[in-house]
Amino acid sequence: VKEKVLGILKENSARYVSGEHISEALGVSRAAIWKHIKDLKKEGYVIIASSKKGYSLVSVPDVLNSYEIIYNLKTGIIGSNIIYREEIDSTNNYAKKIASEGCKDGTVVVAECQTAGRGRLGRMWDSARNKGIYMSIVLRPEVAPEDVQIITIAASIAVAEAIRDITGMEAAIKWPNDIILDGKKVCGILTEMSSEMEKVNFLVVGIGLNVNHSREDFPEELANTATSLRIYAEQNSTGTAPAELDFRLNRSSLVKAVLTEMENVYCMVNNGNTDEVVRQWKEYSVTLGKEVLITSKSAEYRGFAKDITKDGRLIVDCSDGVTREVMSGEVKVRGLLGYT
Ligand code: BTN
Repeated sequence: VKEKVLGILKENSARYVSGEHISEALGVSRAAIWKHIKDLKKEGYVIIASSKKGYSLVSVPDVLNSYEIIYNLKTGIIGSNIIYREEIDSTNNYAKKIASEGCKDGTVVVAECQTAGRGRLGRMWDSARNKGIYMSIVLRPEVAPEDVQIITIAASIAVAEAIRDITGMEAAIKWPNDIILDGKKVCGILTEMSSEMEKVNFLVVGIGLNVNHSREDFPEELANTATSLRIYAEQNSTGTAPAELDFRLNRSSLVKAVLTEMENVYCMVNNGNTDEVVRQWKEYSVTLGKEVLITSKSAEYRGFAKDITKDGRLIVDCSDGVTREVMSGEVKVRGLLGYT
């Protein structure tokens, strides 16, 4: 009911709605409506009440609760089920757990903070409370286990497009799936899989997006390599901004945009239209045509990133004269993230 009360207030935002109207529309008592209004205020919604005119929603807090995300979300699969936590160890861990218990394709787990956020290659992911977007999407795609890289590639397109849609910032992609702004990393994606020899049971695509972090929110060792949308906006604003403008972005709109774009690319993959996924990825790539340093468990290669394959491998003309297809591992791109 609380969500429905909020929905009515939102439809009439900046206008008063009488308690009587809400109570009739939802078939609950006015006392119950008042209780939900009180709860919403506690969550940070600014609602003013007038004994004559009723309630008016003045502002919405920057929270990622499921009703903020669901409101006006027009996807069919991605986000059809949303689980929200204020704090969690890792959204990927929780998503894997519920995926193995059979949750729906497109289920999303989102949190305000992670106590054990994980990055690729065993690293940790800095997950400052209320600043970023930490979310995992459970997918049950129709691809063979050896082709799942395309899903990670697709997810990076979704994030880059969502950033572009909402902020106009020219987010780019470093292979396979780091999102880059101004040569620094703004988002990382960690895809984990459960599969059998020939069949993918599920994938969990974990997205960590730095949104409202200020420079002080990042630990020292990330100072030169990490950025946030807010830092970028502040750096690139022209003229003198009014003091009250602090360049914060509304995170739930970004989540909605990521889910919407994810649905587009996910459908492309499931329809076998991976050519289009690869084409879009190339459009945003900051890896192709660049000098790269590839470090895998067994070796290190320098070379020139030439292309990617239909299943998302990077094709590199290496300095030893051999052309290699790189599946995973660490890739440094000259000129990015402190690699010179
Ligand atoms: C990387 O190393 O670049 C990948 C970072 C992925 C971080 C996200 S945050 C949400 C999800 N839960 C995790 O524990 N990790 C991913």
